[in-house]
Amino acid sequence: MSVLSEHTRHEIDRWLAKFPADRRRSAVLAALREAQHQNNGFLTPPLMDAVAEYIGMPAIQVYEVASFYSMFETRPAGRVHVSVCTNISCMLCGADRIVDAVERHLGITTGESTPDGKFYLKREEECLAACNNAPMMMVDHVYHESLTPESAIKVLDGVK
Ligand code: FES
Repeated sequence: MSVLSEHTRHEIDRWLAKFPADRRRSAVLAALREAQHQNNGFLTPPLMDAVAEYIGMPAIQVYEVASFYSMFETRPAGRVHVSVCTNISCMLCGADRIVDAVERHLGITTGESTPDGKFYLKREEECLAACNNAPMMMVDHVYHESLTPESAIKVLDGVK
């Protein structure tokens, strides 16, 4: 029996159909996203191996893709992903105070998840192209800009 669920395989097939038959590897991002979704938000070596076999590409290349792109996780993580930008504009506008406030509020450090599995303080993010409203953070792909430590906490407290 495949490690990939029937639904995951169905979704991968849908993506494979969009590409020429000799370009199956073009579906690797979508395939990994589906595999990750199947497994509560993170990829395991057996899942990555199964994706490699299913779309016919070397496992090492699938591992490379999974470890390169920040939307893939290779270990369990909290449900809500929080990334504080600490690149130059945000740094100059006080990103370190945002990181401090968020870490203290959640009781974890960057790279960790809260014990209840709700929040994952994913990483100090590179520039997310919202420099004109620095400092900022991204919560599940939603931008929150012109932050203060207080408003950052308010954003987190408002997450269901
Ligand atoms: S430096 Fe933070 S959004 Fe550009």
